[in-house]
Amino acid sequence: MKIFKLNKHWIGVFSAVILLASCDHNRNEPGWSFFNDMEHSQAYETWSENPNLPEGKTMTSPVEGTVAIHEYAFGFVKTPEDELKAASLENPLSGEFNLEHAKLRYEQYCIICHGEKGDGQGHLFKSGKYPIPPASYKAERAMQKTDGQLFHNIRVGFGVMGAHGPQLSVEDTWQLVNYIRYLQSQEVE
Ligand code: HEC
Repeated sequence: MKIFKLNKHWIGVFSAVILLASCDHNRNEPGWSFFNDMEHSQAYETWSENPNLPEGKTMTSPVEGTVAIHEYAFGFVKTPEDELKAASLENPLSGEFNLEHAKLRYEQYCIICHGEKGDGQGHLFKSGKYPIPPASYKAERAMQKTDGQLFHNIRVGFGVMGAHGPQLSVEDTWQLVNYIRYLQSQEVE
């Protein structure tokens, strides 16, 4: 019985010593490491050199023509030639115009320049902060354009206007084309 008590006592002392010994005031020193393969990864790091791969680095370049998930490969660039090539693109949402949603996107991205009625009299232009007159959708040029051309203009930009493709989903871009058509159909007051 005595021996048992003694053992219990020593186990307590021993645990306390171990516990206290594991406390170190020097926070910059990691202390002893027993299995240091967990500290120093044996695997090649993403950006490290790697003699096993053809390019000599772990992060290999994507195969040419790779498109990231959710990214849209439009395939046309901001040139008048490509605008004409895009002219025959069919509007998949012409029969599914969601006025409320399209208006929201228009107000978020376009109204500041093109104005509420699409006449180019947006706040940014009227306040003098943006010196180039934004195109009016009711002018001859925009009226003559096909849905595909408008889609092209919005996605890759047109003239001095920048591309809006990176901010908009494909669906939203077509909805904006529909919204331009809607604005064009409204009577001028
Ligand atoms: C920073 C101001 C600005 C914003 C924001 C802007 N645009 Fe424009 N947009 C312009 C200007 C300026 C032009 C005329 C460019 C030129 O003639 O060089 C233009 C031209 C266009 C054209 C070509 C029209 C034509 O007459 O051929 C379309 C279509 C168009 N914008 C749609 C949009 C849509 C849709 C949005 C919102 C997603 C948008 N723009 C956002 C300034 C802007």
